[in-house]
Amino acid sequence: MFPVQMTRILAVCLGNICRSPTAEAALREAADRAALQVEIDSAGTGAWHVGSRPDARMRAAGSEAGLEIDGTARRVAPEDFDRFDLILAMDGSNMADLQRMAPSPEAAEKVRLFRSFDPDADEPDVPDPYYGGADGFREVVEMARRAASGVVRHLTT
Ligand code: 4NP
Repeated sequence: MFPVQMTRILAVCLGNICRSPTAEAALREAADRAALQVEIDSAGTGAWHVGSRPDARMRAAGSEAGLEIDGTARRVAPEDFDRFDLILAMDGSNMADLQRMAPSPEAAEKVRLFRSFDPDADEPDVPDPYYGGADGFREVVEMARRAASGVVRHLTT
């Protein structure tokens, strides 16, 4: 049997400590549920939190909902545009930054808004929860799960 080329997905936010690690965990959960083989990673456009674990408030909101959010923050690298097939921006600002960083028009086309895969999304962005209260973190978990299901549907239908 020939090996099947695995789809590779990168979730991207600003700090890589709140939204994109949550998206990564939700994508892994949705892919596992569908028995879909995908490689999933996350990164940030900014460097402030490189080397850190996800924000404790984000991890707490995840565990409350049964989603384990973990990893080590890193910054988006130019090679990511080659390595990944789909680059999912958490908000419009992340999307604009990624399109500026893309080394070619083909690479820029890999960048999509994460919530564009959720047909019921009421707005295009996953709002940054960093400066807000616990509810904001809970909402990120819910939004990420809905969008992640949409991504997996997109890849399997
Ligand atoms: P994230 O949230 O982009 O979802 O990881 C943020 C984390 C940190 C900062 C901003 C957003 N910050 O300015 O330090």
